[in-house]
Amino acid sequence: MDFKQQVVDTLVKVLPEDITEEQITNLIEKPKTSDLGDYAFPTFILAKTLHKAPNMIAEDLVGKIDTDGFEKVVNTGAYINFFLDKKAFSADVLNAVLTQKDEYGNADDGKGRNVPIDMSSPNIAKPMSMGHLRSTVIGNSIAKIISKLNYQPVKINHLGDWGTQFGKLIVGYKMWGSVEEVEADPINNLLKYYVRFHKEAEDKPELDDEARAWFKKMEDGDKEALALWTWFKELSLKEFQKIYDRLDVQFDHFTGESFYNDKMDAIVDTLEEKGLLKESRGAEIVDLSEYDLSPALIKKTDGATLYITRDLAAAKYRKDTFDFVKSLYVVGSEQAEHFTKLKIVLKKMGYDWADDIIYIPFGLITAGGKKLSTRKGNVILLDDVLNDAVALAKKQIEEKNPDLKNKDAVAEAVGVGAVVFHDLKNDRRDSFDFNLEEVVRFEGETGPYVQYTNARALSILRKAGDVDYANAENLAVTDVEAWDTIKMLQDFPNVVERAAKTFEPSVIAKYVLKLAKSFNQYYAHSKILADDEGLKARLALVKSVSTVLQMSLGLLGVKAPEEM
Ligand code: ARG
Repeated sequence: MDFKQQVVDTLVKVLPEDITEEQITNLIEKPKTSDLGDYAFPTFILAKTLHKAPNMIAEDLVGKIDTDGFEKVVNTGAYINFFLDKKAFSADVLNAVLTQKDEYGNADDGKGRNVPIDMSSPNIAKPMSMGHLRSTVIGNSIAKIISKLNYQPVKINHLGDWGTQFGKLIVGYKMWGSVEEVEADPINNLLKYYVRFHKEAEDKPELDDEARAWFKKMEDGDKEALALWTWFKELSLKEFQKIYDRLDVQFDHFTGESFYNDKMDAIVDTLEEKGLLKESRGAEIVDLSEYDLSPALIKKTDGATLYITRDLAAAKYRKDTFDFVKSLYVVGSEQAEHFTKLKIVLKKMGYDWADDIIYIPFGLITAGGKKLSTRKGNVILLDDVLNDAVALAKKQIEEKNPDLKNKDAVAEAVGVGAVVFHDLKNDRRDSFDFNLEEVVRFEGETGPYVQYTNARALSILRKAGDVDYANAENLAVTDVEAWDTIKMLQDFPNVVERAAKTFEPSVIAKYVLKLAKSFNQYYAHSKILADDEGLKARLALVKSVSTVLQMSLGLLGVKAPEEM
């Protein structure tokens, strides 16, 4: 049942005719605390038409309102405060959650249409950075959230597996590397050559020429160059896969930049046909000065293609292949200008669907206030971060619940979950400093706190044994302490929709923290398992809370252990 609509319908009957139902709907507020009611209507806008003070208007209207179906309707100053019938409301909400289960909060906005999500997209032969971790977990969560609205996400890993950096890597490897060393610890050693290349090239610019020549060989299909590149790529993918497995993230496509090698000529041709390509010092560019932007560099002097050339081809390929309604790119905010240019060039090419490309930026993760960079070699290794988090989780579990079965599996779920949750709980555009201790705290605004709350709810349900919730009449929880929790359960579908519209997993994370907190307050103030006539309804509430906690964690890509 739509309780807000009930308020609107009631108001329509007593308000002047010139105020529309839509206006009323938009004016209705939710009071900050429940003692001011569940919905409130401000009467200020009526003062002009009715020539009366707003609080007088509110008082008058309250006298005329049909309070049937409400607990009560009162006025506080200029506001009309509606108190919902708690019994009807709670029965309605709990029933919805218990019968719809995992489908609670689903909607059909997306009608099954495809939404490619460009996510993770690490660079071959380099460690996966904290930025790529962010892209991975934000993209994964957005995929789950929009799925609830029946969009069909297509998760694409646009690997950085092409470009001049591979020329540098080949030069570095040939000078300082060996098969044995690379096989022993692929990514770290490949990174070592890359970092050393940059250092030495500062004094020896001829190294850069060599690197360019090797990349050119790759583009021309040279056997040796491509064999090395393939080898680097396979080793890297194997390492990345370990992290994806731990995060439980799957991709639909691993189509990296190299996938577009044979699809760029068509793009360059179109640019040419439309008269968009210009020559500038031997390079081919699209001039963007009318937008106050530096030109989009399409081809270098030696004919080598660039990052944006490959992205143009990728965008077009995705439209042709998936006929998307929206095409998302979860990429750090430092690439904002790149995506602005990408969209402008596509628009200039005549592709109106460029408007459906949505760039989803996120802030930087710093360590000790410093920016992390693979070039300088000061990366945080993701695998180490996850290992440390899991070790910390294990330590806490040993202290709190030494008899727990499958401790290691739970510690993995808690440690990894903590890192993921921490990443998602702030607005994605915010930058934050990474501090492990803070991430894996078991109290406060953390993933483990939510996981723990769910485990506690499940333990209550285990104690209660099998319960049949089929009888709706009995599901009315009238305890005042439960009221906020029940209202939050009712709000879940709106929360999912808001998260989906803004591509903002933090909306879910903030919600689930609040739900956990409010449930813990209820738990502290009531005897849930007391054997009285309200027992079944209270258990229905516990069950509904755990259902929604689990679903929310699931939408964030965080596991929910049954015990911890
Ligand atoms: N590999 C790039 C990087 O690490 C990110 C790629 C993002 N996706 C894209 N279609 N440009 O910076």
